[in-house]
Amino acid sequence: MSDKKATLKVDGVDQIFELPVYSGTLGPDVIDVGSLTAGDMFTYDPGFVSTAACESKITYIDGGKGILLHRGYPIDQLAEHSDYLETCYLLLYGELPTAQEKDAFVTTVKRHTMVHEQIRTFFNGFRRDAHPMAVMCGVVGALSAFYHDSLDISDEHHRQVAAFRLIAKMPTLAAMSYKFSIGQPFMYPDNTMGYAENFLHMMFGNPCEPSNVSPVLAKAMDRIFLLHADHEQNASTSTVRLAGSSGANPFACMAAGIAALWGPSHGGANEAVLEMLEEIGDVSRIDEFVARAKDKDDPFRLMGFGHRVYKNFDPRAKVMKEAADDVLAELGIDNDPLLAIAKRLEQIALEDPYFIERKLYPNVDFYSGIILKAIGIPTSMFTVIFAVGRTVGWVAHWNEMISGSYRIGRPRQLYTGYTQRDFVSLDERG
Ligand code: CMC
Repeated sequence: MSDKKATLKVDGVDQIFELPVYSGTLGPDVIDVGSLTAGDMFTYDPGFVSTAACESKITYIDGGKGILLHRGYPIDQLAEHSDYLETCYLLLYGELPTAQEKDAFVTTVKRHTMVHEQIRTFFNGFRRDAHPMAVMCGVVGALSAFYHDSLDISDEHHRQVAAFRLIAKMPTLAAMSYKFSIGQPFMYPDNTMGYAENFLHMMFGNPCEPSNVSPVLAKAMDRIFLLHADHEQNASTSTVRLAGSSGANPFACMAAGIAALWGPSHGGANEAVLEMLEEIGDVSRIDEFVARAKDKDDPFRLMGFGHRVYKNFDPRAKVMKEAADDVLAELGIDNDPLLAIAKRLEQIALEDPYFIERKLYPNVDFYSGIILKAIGIPTSMFTVIFAVGRTVGWVAHWNEMISGSYRIGRPRQLYTGYTQRDFVSLDERG
């Protein structure tokens, strides 16, 4: 915080607004416009592009420089030296754990991986062809009907237990939503396995045979979870905060986050990338699709390109690209037709003036889609995997808000509808 002030003079209004200006530890100063409402005035900022909705200590992004820090640590260092659960600890508690703390954390997460047995029957209410994200919205929200002993948001212990349950059970529920869709038996978690390894075991294993999860693929999966763990006040995290600000329970808030993540402009982009590559179908048709992406009268956009915040490059995409190269080399995939299309599109984005001028670079979802496809994850599960990784970010932000001082979120509006008018009875309406 600082003593700086901004002065606002509005044409036709006598009052001069003196607005406090705050400085964070990093990033641009922010102008506190909270007092404008006393002068009967609001700010207007569709899409919240210039609005800080909260104060947070968890994640910092500098979109211009391509920087992403979790609790101060650069994402590339975490991806190289850490793992998903250690990053979860960091996001939740603010510091990297000691060996003992990490051990205790991992053990506690593992003790929560199973879901209430009755949740298995809950799945039967869904159609087999339901999209797994639709199933996840339902079952994650339904956790609040099963775990009453972690719903009191004013109790720190309840919040802790809810955090463990969510991080531990999301992979189990995600794998169940897939198994249900293909008519295979649900797999119980195997707590002798690592987090990502266990997820692949529940996805691809069956009760008749021992699981054999490739360590390279488990490592790639862990990296995907880690790279998606948090991204400050994005649409889904802001949704979780907004839902939480009314005092809703954590499981209901996470279901709200999953719903916001589902859209193709956010987490649904990784699924949309693969669908787009399939629609293009052949390298010879790329120019046609690129022309469509540039055409203002065509709503088509190149999925996996561009980002609301990163206008230079997406630092997660850089790490993800390396991981994609490792996975493809490990699996010996070098002549996949969709991959050939993806590589050509990437080249175009880096060379074509349309993309360069608008700073449209391949984003994290462009490469994660390629890795997930290579691992054998069905396209409809891509966004679910994003949700599994992002759960810790949602929980960390929700907990930061609830354990501090907060008010119910209540944005205002610029009203452009009718002014007041009198009711017209049915027989007088023309
Ligand atoms: N293909 C073609 N043109 C694009 C694209 C694209 N993917 N993205 C933006 N543009 C153009 C857009 O038409 C506009 O052009 P002009 O200035 O001539 O009107 C300009 O670039 C700026 O676009 P914008 O809509 O103002 O940018 P935004 O910051 O509001 O949107 C975005 C960001 C991510 C929604 C958008 O780039 C997009 O729709 N990308 C495709 C979907 C995608 O990959 N989303 C995943 C984001 S990363 C995962 C996550 O964090 O959730």
